Amino acid sequence: MQCHYRLQEEKTMITELNHVGIVAGAVEENLNFYVDILGGKVVNEGYIEASNTKCIYVQLASGIIELLCRGNEKDRVNLGLNHVCFLTDDLDGDYEKLLAAGFVFTSPPKVAGSGDGRLTFLTDSIGTRVELIQRDQSYKNPKVEGRILSFDHISLSAHDLQAAESFYTEKMGMKELKRMRVDATDLTMVYLNYGEDVIELLNRPNQQPVSPPIGHIALRVDNVDEMGEYLASRGVEILQGFPKQAGTGIGRITMVKDPNGARIEFVDRKDLREL
Ligand SMILES: [Fe+2]
Ligand SMILES: [Fe+2]
Repeated sequence: MQCHYRLQEEKTMITELNHVGIVAGAVEENLNFYVDILGGKVVNEGYIEASNTKCIYVQLASGIIELLCRGNEKDRVNLGLNHVCFLTDDLDGDYEKLLAAGFVFTSPPKVAGSGDGRLTFLTDSIGTRVELIQRDQSYKNPKVEGRILSFDHISLSAHDLQAAESFYTEKMGMKELKRMRVDATDLTMVYLNYGEDVIELLNRPNQQPVSPPIGHIALRVDNVDEMGEYLASRGVEILQGFPKQAGTGIGRITMVKDPNGARIEFVDRKDLREL
């Protein structure tokens, strides 16, 4: 009885992997990339007065990207993939539990800069910035149909795979969806999901230099080569070495950078659930 009670106490009240946050530059070039070119839909907007930041939530298929567009030129530093955000039903309780488990937070829970909900940020077991937020709305709409068939995954650099798996399954309540291995490059990929939303834990023990905590986001399309041609026709540069066969041998991948330097991967294999 005692043991059962303690397990209940330690479990967080996460209900959803809500978004991936990008620190962004100008609003217009971001809307051009994410809405006009990729076909995303703006599902919510907010404003953080203290830092003159416009928050734009763009949904692509079933996933949300939060664009934190810095209004002041001088604040346009460290742009790119910044954090992953989980929704919780009990922010204060989760904060206490994770604090007791030794995780480091930027501050105790506080009202969001935009005024919508309360939030806090912590560092996970592999150095990723994780936001926990409690608010009445999720901002998620029904799936946005278009060139992007699904929001395939958010990729984290998991130099310590075991620590990463234990954080995202035991603390964040995600489930293992798929595990893949590329022996030739000593690469292990573990896919964890929360409903439609997937995190890829990428483990490359011998990688030098080490990738940033959030390496890329991956969007699934029908045909990577056609997508590449389309992107090029819209003035988006394909990164050197792409398109190419995926390391797993399953499908092809191509890679671009968004206007903030965030790496966006396109894949044309089946949905992870069907592989
Ligand atoms: Fe966020
Ligand atoms: Fe990936």
